[in-house]
Amino acid sequence: MTDQDLIAAARAAAEHSYSPYSNFAVGAALRFADGSVVTGTNIENASYGMALCAETVAVVKAMAGGTRGGLVAVAVTGPDDKGGGDPITPCGRCRQVLHELAALGGTDPDVLCVGPEDVKRVKLSALLPAAFGPASLV
Ligand code: THU
Repeated sequence: MTDQDLIAAARAAAEHSYSPYSNFAVGAALRFADGSVVTGTNIENASYGMALCAETVAVVKAMAGGTRGGLVAVAVTGPDDKGGGDPITPCGRCRQVLHELAALGGTDPDVLCVGPEDVKRVKLSALLPAAFGPASLV
């Protein structure tokens, strides 16, 4: 599974986005150390504030399947005709949700933020410095 494959998986997941209110389809794909991939897409709600982001859906799918840690890479895609051409980056809440899963396995995943023209690769720790996590509670 190459980075391009992971990005393709995120784009494929976005085809199932339920985003009638924002018309902003987001896809996420998580790659794990064992080679497995779990995807997610944003799911909105008529009660707007209840929208679930693509990254959060992917993390919840993975964790509900028993996965704890091993997160090595994340790809996030948005609609190419929005965002001013800049690569999409995970929202603050999703950074925190991703950090929980990553921290369980002690990894610092690469986050591939995909734009219409380029891909920005950034460590999760750079997106969420000085993170609060499981170790903060012991
Ligand atoms: N969204 C995501 O799925 N992930 C993000 O990191 C940013 C925002 C979704 C939420 C909402 O359905 C739509 O994009 C517009 O904010």
